[in-house]
Amino acid sequence: MRKRSCTKQLICVCNVKMVPVHAACALFSLTPLLVLGVPPIWTQPEQVHLAYPGEPGSMVVTWTTFSKTESKVEYGILGGQFFEMTTKGNTTLFVDSGEEKRKLYIHRVILTGLKPAVNYVYHCGSDEGWSDVFYFTALNDSTSFSPRFALYGDLGNENPQSLARLQKDTQLGMYDVILHIGDFAYDMHEDNARIGDEFMRQIQSIAAYVPYMTCPGNHEATYNFSNYRNRFSMPGQTESLWYSWNLGSAHIISLSTEVYFYLEFGLELLFKQYEWLKKDLEEANKPENRAVRPWIITMGHRPMYCSDDDQDDCTKFDSYVRLGRKDTKPPAPGLEDLFYRYGVDLELWAHEHTYERLWPVYADKVYNGSKEQPYVNPKAPVHIVTGSAGCREKTDSFNPNPKEWSAFRSTDYGYTRMKVFNTTHIYLEQISDDQYGKVIDSIWVVKEKHGFSAWF
Ligand SMILES: *[C@@H]1O[C@H](CO)[C@@H](O)[C@H](O)[C@H]1NC(C)=O
Ligand SMILES: *[C@@H]1O[C@H](CO)[C@@H](O)[C@H](O)[C@H]1NC(C)=O
Ligand SMILES: *[C@@H]1O[C@H](CO)[C@@H](O)[C@H](O)[C@H]1NC(C)=O
Ligand SMILES: *[C@@H]1O[C@H](CO)[C@@H](O)[C@H](O)[C@H]1NC(C)=O
Ligand SMILES: *[C@@H]1O[C@H](CO)[C@@H](O)[C@H](O)[C@H]1NC(C)=O
Ligand SMILES: [Fe+2]
Repeated sequence: MRKRSCTKQLICVCNVKMVPVHAACALFSLTPLLVLGVPPIWTQPEQVHLAYPGEPGSMVVTWTTFSKTESKVEYGILGGQFFEMTTKGNTTLFVDSGEEKRKLYIHRVILTGLKPAVNYVYHCGSDEGWSDVFYFTALNDSTSFSPRFALYGDLGNENPQSLARLQKDTQLGMYDVILHIGDFAYDMHEDNARIGDEFMRQIQSIAAYVPYMTCPGNHEATYNFSNYRNRFSMPGQTESLWYSWNLGSAHIISLSTEVYFYLEFGLELLFKQYEWLKKDLEEANKPENRAVRPWIITMGHRPMYCSDDDQDDCTKFDSYVRLGRKDTKPPAPGLEDLFYRYGVDLELWAHEHTYERLWPVYADKVYNGSKEQPYVNPKAPVHIVTGSAGCREKTDSFNPNPKEWSAFRSTDYGYTRMKVFNTTHIYLEQISDDQYGKVIDSIWVVKEKHGFSAWF
């Protein structure tokens, strides 16, 4: 199949486009390499990206080819011998549901036994073509490690305004992990998934160097999220829809808010996720677990609270994500009570193309730690909405009269940085790309106590 075989295409070309010109067809068939319309051979790896599978000492490398090839990663420690180790993985065929039914071969290789905090050099592909050379640092699995994150949602192929700054930050070694909180490419399925291809090429410049952890947004919904499910490789067995993992003193939960909106893809998914969340939170709250990883951080696309002026979700009605839905059978539980009961510390959202920081909030009411230091021992979860990385839909505007939980708002393009210092301190800051990288907002969340009992 990989050999260039012209006969089929030639017959096709002659029949469809050149019916009367039999002589020309005959002539062309003698010189097949000159014939237009033979598709290229596509064994060269592209769209390389990393994710953390959740097991200490591991990393998964994912990439795409358009012809079928093997899946191999050759790697070695930076400063040592290049490519002295080889790991094989799997290829899955992803057929896009667009008219052209384009075929993508998605390659996944899981590297294991990596030494924590050590730099590795790798390339991926097969004997039919290797990628460029990339490098990454294996995550430090110590619970006293202080990971640094970039996080944002709503980054597109067109107008990805923050991307250049994120590329440079990443190249400067500023991040251990990037969190993309839903809405990719706008939209990955468009132009027979070519928009997805080009977006994945764009983010290779960051995602091939640090783990790029994701959750689905509404822009991924077409064909039942198939572009999202096929292109990413998050931990767990849910095709990247919901999962959790640990880093430093944090337990990080990624979820699909979209199960509350696209019921046509299965109301059972909403309940499945809810049950999984409950179990995961229970496990994370076992005293022995919460003692070493006291921070519980969630990320999901559509926020529970926001004060944008776009007649969408949390501005129009009480958010489904927050309160659930009463119009389903059985009624669907929301997430606010669940997260509150299990003492979730920090909730990261996107979807609104703005940045908004909230005072600690539960049930629409503010629960500051104290009036002077609202984020020191807050009495409810802290929410951040960060969906202004840049996409073709530009930025949103704000409602002029926000509720009392709204603490800081910006319509600048940008993204958020987060550092989980230790069991008591998290630092967050907002970068404005419009203002050339200026830090326009920052907070320390300080907690001496975690869990449900910390609220009282
Ligand atoms: C490849 O498939 C095998 C068998 O199904 C599985 O055990 C392994 O984890 C897979 N590897 C990757 C990288 O998905
Ligand atoms: C991992 O991080 C911890 C805490 O900063 C540090 O003490 C340790 O040396 C790091 N591990 C490695 C292998 O560098
Ligand atoms: C949509 O995809 C999910 C995840 O693979 C699957 O569980 C569900 O059954 C699909 N829904 C439909 C309607 O195909
Ligand atoms: C919470 O703290 C902020 C900052 O001090 C203050 O402006 C706000 O009024 C407080 N809200 C409540 C309900 O105490
Ligand atoms: C946690 O980190 C903060 C910020 O660096 C520091 O002020 C604090 O003393 C640290 N706490 C512990 C328990 O190490
Ligand atoms: Fe969205």
